Amino acid sequence: MSVVKVLCCLLAIYQLNEAKKIRGNRADVMAAEPNGVLKEPHVSLSTFRLFAEGEDNCTVDPLQLHTLTSCGFNSSNPLIIITHGWSVDGMLESWVLKLATALKSNLIDVNVVITDWLSLAQTHYPTAAKSTRSVGKDIAHLLQALQARYQYPLRKVHLIGYSLGAHISGFAGSYLEGPEKIGRITGLDPAGPLFEGMSPSDRLSPDDADFVDAIHTFTQERMGLSVGIKQAVGHYDFYPNGGDFQPGCDLRNIYEHISQYGLLGFEQTVKCAHERSVHLFIDSLLNKDKQSRAYRCRDERSFDRGVCLDCRKHRCNTLGYNINQVRTGTSKRLYLKTRSQMPYKLHHYQFRVQFVNQMERIQPSLTISLTGTKEESGDIPITVTEPISGNTSLTFLITLDKDLGDLMFLKLRWDGAALWKNVWKRVQTMIPWGGAERQAQLTVGKISIKAGETQERTTFCAMVHDEQQVEISQDKVFVRCKEDWTQQHRRKRNRAATSP
Ligand SMILES: *[C@@H]1O[C@H](CO)[C@@H](O)[C@H](O)[C@H]1NC(C)=O
Ligand SMILES: *[C@@H]1O[C@H](CO)[C@@H](O)[C@H](O)[C@H]1NC(C)=O
Ligand SMILES: *[C@@H]1O[C@H](CO)[C@@H](O)[C@H](O)[C@H]1NC(C)=O
Repeated sequence: MSVVKVLCCLLAIYQLNEAKKIRGNRADVMAAEPNGVLKEPHVSLSTFRLFAEGEDNCTVDPLQLHTLTSCGFNSSNPLIIITHGWSVDGMLESWVLKLATALKSNLIDVNVVITDWLSLAQTHYPTAAKSTRSVGKDIAHLLQALQARYQYPLRKVHLIGYSLGAHISGFAGSYLEGPEKIGRITGLDPAGPLFEGMSPSDRLSPDDADFVDAIHTFTQERMGLSVGIKQAVGHYDFYPNGGDFQPGCDLRNIYEHISQYGLLGFEQTVKCAHERSVHLFIDSLLNKDKQSRAYRCRDERSFDRGVCLDCRKHRCNTLGYNINQVRTGTSKRLYLKTRSQMPYKLHHYQFRVQFVNQMERIQPSLTISLTGTKEESGDIPITVTEPISGNTSLTFLITLDKDLGDLMFLKLRWDGAALWKNVWKRVQTMIPWGGAERQAQLTVGKISIKAGETQERTTFCAMVHDEQQVEISQDKVFVRCKEDWTQQHRRKRNRAATSP
């Protein structure tokens, strides 16, 4: 396993390290050109193909715009341009057509164009990175030609770029002068090496379009570099599963990948997390009823504590195509958990469990199960990372792949208790004056749950006439607190009163 791991990582890191070596030399790499200067005539090194009916072989010549019409371009519809990234084998990766198909079949009245810059992309990474400006300029020229010929408004343009393609899209935006900007740019795991930490004019940034969003999926650092850029580059930056690595992409899956792709399995494993950004975007087009929601948070650790599931003041948004394009002053880093395969959506719940008057410091292992109007959660093991004592609350995040509906009741079980029983029995035998009634005890007050997706908060209490004490290895049932019912009733009434 370790040999496989080493081989695999070497493959990925080799080119990146080459990139790092020249980093000191970056004036060379990023030959600075003044933004917004487009000289005519322009010879495009990239090819543009209009995607229609499952084919992408209708080539558009920006200098001969009648080719657009013959390819089926409809100037009353929006335009989406997909741009790929660095290429190992000079082939268009299969996700390109998947994304184009998903856009075309779900949005219908839309023009989808694919940028082909493979001849420049299939080089040493730093060389490919250096070409991103000129490819960006090619796109800017195409858009300018559309403006001139059809008075085509830039705000109807949406650029979607993967890896290096994300920065290409940014450069395209910055080459276009004038009051009007490109409507939207989506960066799918924008490339990190040679772009991380650069000034906004040297990478994708919020200035490049009216609205810029990015999905970061492979920012795990190795030898000081990460494949995807870590810093925020848009108005909204999404970090699924923390952004560094993705579920289902673990190196443990390499054997599956090898059986599926042969030796290319190595590459597939490396690419898995990077390309996840694309599949998350495709998911947002294909699964309209399963839109993933993400929440603004300081960092992944806070998110895992469950404290960030807030939607007020645009603190949450929808990942992917259907994002709410509101612009607020600051750029936002949003977090979410996802499944390991499509549909990726998970439901997020914040739990707050109140422990009362805990005399002994204990670190219980707990299991919770939830019952809602639609579904049951099944057993959810809770890891308590720090001992509990005194009056304290434990806050954590739980994710479920099903929608439970309105929460009705929950069961709590205190496991691993046998151990405690024995310990206490022993202690009691050793120090008889410790008192016969002394037992490890756990007293739970209220349990409050906030659902991120509905923003509903539900509070659970022990049943009336029931003690708060949790018995070892027994399911303790909590029901919705009395005041919770009345509060919800009031909320519903208020909502009914305010709606027309
Ligand atoms: C595009 O390619 C398909 C086969 O892949 C072919 O049937 C079709 O005629 C081609 N269209 C054009 C415009 O070349
Ligand atoms: C262009 O698209 C619109 C719908 O957005 C449609 O009504 C119109 O007929 C299309 N034009 C052509 C030439 O296909
Ligand atoms: C917990 O709070 C109760 C009152 O709510 C108080 O009587 C008790 O002393 C507190 N226990 C500890 C360990 O702080």
